[in-house]
Amino acid sequence: MEAGGVARPVLRGWRTTHPAELALDLGGARGALSVGEDGSVRLRAGRGNSLPPLAEQALGRRPPPAVATDLQESSDGIVLTRDGRAGTIRVELRSDPLALRVLTRGKPVASLEGLAFDERGGASVRCHARLGERFFGFGESPGSFDKRGQELRLRNHDLGIPRGAPAYLTVPFCLGFAPRQLPPARGLLLDALGPCRFDLAATHRDEVTLATELDGLDVTVIPGPAPRDVLRRLTARVGRPALPPRWALGHHQSRWSYASEAEVRAVAAEIRRRRIPTDVIHLDIDHMDGFRVFTWHPGRFPDPKGLIADLARQGFRVVAIVDPGVKVDEEWSVYREGRERDVFCRRDDGEAWSLRVWPGEAALPDYNRPEVRRWWGEQHRPLLDAGVAGIWNDMNEPAGWSRDLRIGRWVWPIRDQDLSRVVQSDPIRPERTVEHERVRNIYGQQECRATRDFLEAERPGERAFLLTRAGTAGVQSLAAVWTGDNRSRWEELRASIPILLNLSLSGVAFCGADIGGFAGSCTPELYARWMQLGALYPFARTHSWWLGRRQEPWRFGRDVEQIAREALELRMRLLPYLYGLFHEAAESGAPPWRPLFFEFPEDPESEAVDDQIMLGRDLLVAPVVERGARHRELWLPPGRWMAWHDDAQYVGPRRVRVDAPLDRLPLFLRAGAVLPTQSPVCHVGEAPDEPCVVEVAPGADGSASFVEDDDVSTAHREGRLARTAFRLWDRAGGRLRLEIGRREGELPVPDRALRVAVRGCPPPRRVVLNGQPLREGRGVPGYAVAQGRLDVRLLDNGAGHTLEVEPAP
Ligand code: GLC
Repeated sequence: MEAGGVARPVLRGWRTTHPAELALDLGGARGALSVGEDGSVRLRAGRGNSLPPLAEQALGRRPPPAVATDLQESSDGIVLTRDGRAGTIRVELRSDPLALRVLTRGKPVASLEGLAFDERGGASVRCHARLGERFFGFGESPGSFDKRGQELRLRNHDLGIPRGAPAYLTVPFCLGFAPRQLPPARGLLLDALGPCRFDLAATHRDEVTLATELDGLDVTVIPGPAPRDVLRRLTARVGRPALPPRWALGHHQSRWSYASEAEVRAVAAEIRRRRIPTDVIHLDIDHMDGFRVFTWHPGRFPDPKGLIADLARQGFRVVAIVDPGVKVDEEWSVYREGRERDVFCRRDDGEAWSLRVWPGEAALPDYNRPEVRRWWGEQHRPLLDAGVAGIWNDMNEPAGWSRDLRIGRWVWPIRDQDLSRVVQSDPIRPERTVEHERVRNIYGQQECRATRDFLEAERPGERAFLLTRAGTAGVQSLAAVWTGDNRSRWEELRASIPILLNLSLSGVAFCGADIGGFAGSCTPELYARWMQLGALYPFARTHSWWLGRRQEPWRFGRDVEQIAREALELRMRLLPYLYGLFHEAAESGAPPWRPLFFEFPEDPESEAVDDQIMLGRDLLVAPVVERGARHRELWLPPGRWMAWHDDAQYVGPRRVRVDAPLDRLPLFLRAGAVLPTQSPVCHVGEAPDEPCVVEVAPGADGSASFVEDDDVSTAHREGRLARTAFRLWDRAGGRLRLEIGRREGELPVPDRALRVAVRGCPPPRRVVLNGQPLREGRGVPGYAVAQGRLDVRLLDNGAGHTLEVEPAP
């Protein structure tokens, strides 16, 4: 193909336009090459004289700046080098055939070659797939965990149920992991605003192809060496996960729909009466008046403010759904005002355009314009005035169809949406219009941006909570993500693991699947197992549709109710640890949910494990995802492990088979773990009986950090937090020694009781606190031993403590 004479661009010339960017003349095409402060290398290329749009400008991101490099001409091109914090980066650009090679510390990270453009302005480039390399990321993509051998088309879309391809939320990012190569991990970000493709060694065994359908190519090579380094750089570039308010880490209870105030009150009362830990109740579309967003149904929700205030007194927050589709209704002020202000997407001939969604005909706001985002934000005022704590953005791929059939509550889409003639504003130069398809994949994210900007402006200093179904790279800085409409089936419980792991590896730290499954009817056993796993999803929400069985925990009998209660109590127990993981994610991009290889990159067996999770560094979760199973086989990576429920000890690497009766989730502590926990509570506002219980798993040295802040505000960014460092010495001269560091930071913390729980500990000869032997008994400070656990109680005044147990267990 010789379209435009640039089927095979070559490097004709270059010049430094901006001190840190090299403009490339590719003969009929243009390019730009830069090295980021973080050591990432970015190549942009477009046909003719146009470069692809800058995603950071379109989406309001702040990537690390490009930095100056040393440039040298070589016999066949140019070489850029940079010595920086990220080590030595070397970029070799060969002229003909055009090729780009990126090396860090002398080792090749990626080679891009075969740049080509097509008729419509789409472009592609090839990258060598390394031996044994696996590919992860891509956002919300069902199917196998490792995508090697597959071709993925990333286009945000509501495919309905079931879906076998990437759908609602796609992230054009690929984490390559090849443990026997140096460096083992690398990332490729294809920053496209519209649909794009990744051919992951599907067509050619040793080649990855990255392709866009429109608007040239913008590829960033993100060096490792470890997966966590890639995630750190990716999230610095596209956006770090926002730190959620602590309540958002509690359990969320939802249903399509809790359709009246009376129903919501009844559910809330029952949750508290039965002591099922829950923090949030979601209101789905039936809270609205005729599915008009931002309204309340006057008959069924006559006093939202009163309702939400009453719920708040019981420790609940309310999240309300907001879909982008605005009902076409001249009688309704939101639509009328929107039309008068010209906020909606139009047809290419300038005519008004609408599609079918829940309210019937609906117009879609064009969030690419800042004034439309502001207008949209403003519309949330009635929800905020009523006291709504967070917003749930659904249907924002955008979803909808062009024809449907309606009988009562049933809506059958009968013709898919036709967006071929829909235009939106150019997100960078909003005075121009572009086809919707060009900017399709950012639609949902721009909506989230509008919502978050408004929430932050209206409630300054408060952390916002937003949940979204659609998004693209960087969505984690705006919203939590759930995986849309799954079904109450065992295979979908199982599938939620690789889906959420790939989302996590795409930078999306705060993610979850609907617990119990959305469509279909859940069985008691499936519900029990789903709750055990779901209680440890980063985002834990139970949700179901109106047609199926209700999914509040007490709908499945007493035994299952108890299992659900215990699962959620475990979440609340682990909350201090989990909260620390979210701080870690916000600081470094490391997600709370990690595949085994993230923590054990050198263990070959860990690479392929797709049904176990590392929850942070120290907890290994091996959920039961098979009907009828009362055992679980699992892989324990190298090191010592301790079963959570009975402290049984194992030495990895090895495969083990453990008992898993219906009321047990196989969960393991890594030796050396020092886990901040608390006694369970019904919601985050309830004071735990024991606010600080430090669980210690001996068997290895370890370290941990315990982070506290005020749980809701953004003051942590200005240093208003408290940090306590723990060091564990497993065998310090025959003793186990735990050092609890002096509390650092500006958050005042009152003196409080602290318990250190050492697991797997026979009665010791001596327990010494700060050099003083402790007495056995209930006193404080003091210690007690029961059932192989040593409990040391002390008063924590933040000054730091050293605890020694003799002999070491
Ligand atoms: C979509 C959402 C689902 C929601 C329903 C009604 O199907 O994915 O969660 O309950 O719409 O709003």
